[in-house]
Amino acid sequence: MGKIAVVTGASAGVGRATALEFARHGFDVALLARGAAGLEAAAKETAAHGVQSLAVPTDVANYEAVEAAADQIEKELGPIDVWVNDAMTTVFSTMWDIEPADFQRAVEVTFLGQVWGTRAALARMRPRDRGSIVNVGSALAFIGIPLQSAYCSSKFACRGFFESVRSELLHEGSHVRMSMVHLPAVNTPQFDWCENHMPRHPQPVPPIYQPEIPAKAIVAAALDGRRAKVVGSWNKLLVAAGSVFPGLGNQYAALGAWDSQLTSTTARDRPANLHQPVDTSFDAGSHGSFDDKAGGFFDPSFLESLPHTAMLFSRAVGRTAVEKVRRRAVRRR
Ligand SMILES: NC(=O)c1ccc[n+]([C@@H]2O[C@H](COP(=O)([O-])OP(=O)(O)OC[C@H]3O[C@@H](n4cnc5c(N)ncnc54)[C@H](OP(=O)(O)O)[C@@H]3O)[C@@H](O)[C@H]2O)c1
Repeated sequence: MGKIAVVTGASAGVGRATALEFARHGFDVALLARGAAGLEAAAKETAAHGVQSLAVPTDVANYEAVEAAADQIEKELGPIDVWVNDAMTTVFSTMWDIEPADFQRAVEVTFLGQVWGTRAALARMRPRDRGSIVNVGSALAFIGIPLQSAYCSSKFACRGFFESVRSELLHEGSHVRMSMVHLPAVNTPQFDWCENHMPRHPQPVPPIYQPEIPAKAIVAAALDGRRAKVVGSWNKLLVAAGSVFPGLGNQYAALGAWDSQLTSTTARDRPANLHQPVDTSFDAGSHGSFDDKAGGFFDPSFLESLPHTAMLFSRAVGRTAVEKVRRRAVRRR
């Protein structure tokens, strides 16, 4: 494999940590996002590892812009070897309180951003019959939770898109590899700049990981070409529960995933990054505001929350059973 990597959403959060991890592995890195200050800072950080870095201001929801970015990268750095689709945005809200244009925008960035990135990458990789694409997923591509309908539906769509395109590549015997890495909750700026309609400030659902951990998994997937990876043991359990017992997943999400997404802090009036970057002169960095709550692979706060989690699971099992009995009774009538 050559050593030119493209990362979308590289101005902040997981994308920024991923770009840095590629630079540590000796890759020249092209960074795609919208915020000028974040992109500039990310380019400096990556270049400090002695590689070339190229910041290309791009809105991933715009296919022509993504294509133009890919052209520019190949002209300035050379043939693209790895393309990571990481960019996202979301709206924290019940579905019925989201304006249609806002829902559409969240899907266009989070889902179609991955489609356009994959398309631009494949247009260049398929004729060469080499390259690696990594799409960033989530446990929320398997289990839908309240207050995240725009995000969860986008992530479910990303997974369907990935499975379908991967099978097309296998069908034509292509050597282009496609992987999906499903992340746990991560301490990134997402929660400080996403559109929020809730009265309290949002947070990732614990256990919370630092962005360097998924970044390593994303780079590893690009290098070894594995089909998919779920990062984090709690995440693996959620994915299994959501896939095998979807009814139980719904009950668990209804009981446990509303309050756990909200801090006790009152939401402040602040700009959101849904339609444009919050402020092109603001560098958010890769970490969010939950450094004190985030751990590594071993997260003691997860153990502390085990009794509560067990209680929520048993209540969810009970509610699923009651629901089944009620449905059966209705059918018999
Ligand atoms: N954080 C978590 O708890 C978590 C959990 C599971 C999965 N994930 C996944 O991890 C990935 C990164 O999330 P994150 O938490 O790091 O998010 P984040 O902190 O909000 O960073 C999002 C990145 O995407 C960029 N972006 C947003 N809208 C864009 C657009 N229209 N065009 C181009 N770039 C855009 C942002 O930069 P600009 O605003 O400068 O454009 C930023 O660089 C996503 O795929 C997400 O689904 C995150």
